[in-house]
Amino acid sequence: MLSDGRYDVQLEQECGWLERVIRPPSQKIVPLTAEVLGKQSHRRLAIEAGNLTLESVNVLKSLRPDVVLVETTEQVETLRQVKDEYELGLIRQAADLAQRAMTQTMSTLTPSTTERQFALDLEIAMRRDGADGVSFNVIVGFGETGALCHYRPGDRPLADNESLLFDWGAAFGGYASDITRTFHRGQPSDRFRAAYDAVLEAQLAAIDAIRPGAEGSQIDVIARGVLEKHGLADAFLHSLGHGIGLNIHEGPRLAEDSVDTLEPGMIVTVEPGVYFGGDFGIRIEDDVLVTQDGAEVITSLPKGLDDCRLML
Ligand code: GLY
Ligand code: MN
Repeated sequence: MLSDGRYDVQLEQECGWLERVIRPPSQKIVPLTAEVLGKQSHRRLAIEAGNLTLESVNVLKSLRPDVVLVETTEQVETLRQVKDEYELGLIRQAADLAQRAMTQTMSTLTPSTTERQFALDLEIAMRRDGADGVSFNVIVGFGETGALCHYRPGDRPLADNESLLFDWGAAFGGYASDITRTFHRGQPSDRFRAAYDAVLEAQLAAIDAIRPGAEGSQIDVIARGVLEKHGLADAFLHSLGHGIGLNIHEGPRLAEDSVDTLEPGMIVTVEPGVYFGGDFGIRIEDDVLVTQDGAEVITSLPKGLDDCRLML
């Protein structure tokens, strides 16, 4: 294990069985790697092609022209797709923390709450209850900002009659949860209502099709087909879902071009959405565990439009 002094004590505590080589502040990690390789007889080095930068590869090659770099892709990530019971327990806790925090924070929402304030309050609530932090920066989009899929909350307060899109998750024990709910303050328009019901129908149809052996592409196509039936396919701007685990985005992917096949122990988000620039966005996202014979939705906040209407 090659590292530096900042991690020496922690490495001893967390993986003391590994031999450690600690570089001084004056040495970078790639030259240290080259030095260690020079003391060993191995002449083939597996590298993670998706993670090592071109610059690092060039330095390594110039320092150790005798070593053959063997590119590997997603070897560890593929193993990570199927979670064991310990990992599932942490993800369930991350999901619980996120949900409880939302319920608490929702009860404090007033017409003068800004997007930024709500995002902060939600994060504090997660941390107060024991989360390590957020699993990604909380997205809070009121009205038209809900149409920006990866929006950063701003100083906009809530208007009289508009939607509220929240996409958030907790990190716990290193694992992530990821949930989206779309609320509406006041009376939703017929257009909003129809779009909301279509997104929910798409999400439920996709979840219903999740089982071992199902293809990630097939699940995406099912959700997309429902939105197409409602004339909304063009408003669905991203793929249907992704695995969660140590990272907020990992395999398997639920996407038209996915080559992944679902297996028991995988956890995926199912998050269809429709976005109308300058107007509103709707996304509904749950975390779904692939079981031996089907699926278990591990997030449970209500998601019918009537459950998501706010009378403020
Ligand atoms: N929750 C944000 C995303 O999945 O992109
Ligand atoms: Mn997501």
